[in-house]
Amino acid sequence: MTPRQAHQDRVRERFTRTAEAFASFSLSTRSEEAARLLELALPHLPTLQPTAALDVACGPGTFTRALAQHAARVFGLDLTPALLEQARAALRQQGLGNVELVCGDAAALPFAPASFPLAVCGYSLHHMPDPRRALQQMARVVGPGGVVAIVDIIVPSGADPELNNRIERTRDTSHVRTLTTTELLGLFAWAELEVLAVEPGERPRRFDEWMRVAGWQPDDAVYQKTRRLMEMDREENLSGFRPRMVVGTGGEELMFTQTSLFVVSRRRP
Ligand SMILES: C[S@@+](CC[C@H](N)C(=O)[O-])C[C@H]1O[C@@H](n2cnc3c(N)ncnc32)[C@H](O)[C@@H]1O
Repeated sequence: MTPRQAHQDRVRERFTRTAEAFASFSLSTRSEEAARLLELALPHLPTLQPTAALDVACGPGTFTRALAQHAARVFGLDLTPALLEQARAALRQQGLGNVELVCGDAAALPFAPASFPLAVCGYSLHHMPDPRRALQQMARVVGPGGVVAIVDIIVPSGADPELNNRIERTRDTSHVRTLTTTELLGLFAWAELEVLAVEPGERPRRFDEWMRVAGWQPDDAVYQKTRRLMEMDREENLSGFRPRMVVGTGGEELMFTQTSLFVVSRRRP
């Protein structure tokens, strides 16, 4: 088995084991972010209602659903069949019949050049061993002048990327690397994508819920190890997660902040 296949197995294992919990989290909490990504991207297209659009690493269809309300025909592609099942159910529930779901790899998109005026990718590049390749593939399938829009978690400015990623990988072995803003924008330059808009985002997260979405409960060793790393960083915030204890209705709980970046780009003509 090649390292690439071994990593794909880790991704499928993680998102199959947590398909229901992840779908319920992402579909209920990220719809505003999906709408925001489209608000930033659509004005750069010749029409606000493109003929076709692609959601790469679509998971349970969080961004696919939003695309399907604008584009005539939408494709959602993901490595994990269990999440595509979740997407199918979510799309059916909303009566969105203009979407085709495909099982595949972002590093080898099964579409002809210039198939879509718009391709998006939400919260997934950090799971890929070669995110440059995924962006390059997205640039290929949108063709010259096409728009590529992504949002992903980033390591905030001034934080230690190694500690930030150590915490992420302790929680989830399918996590490859959260990039800094500079690193992420560097991928667009490499893929010959001209950056048109950049917008930072922040989301407070409850530690227990974050662990539950990855399949872990307080009794699990992974939960305990991840929590120790977060708690050890409470005073100094070297990780950039700003871990803190907050008093809520159920007592004190560990909270932190996730930082993200929206990037909209155009493939050079
Ligand atoms: C954190 S989830 C995000 C899913 C969805 N975009 C959302 O925001 O709800 C990461 C997704 O990336 C998918 N994924 C990871 N590596 C991939 C690859 N090389 N090709 C296609 N999908 C991939 C996983 O199966 C998973 O659905």
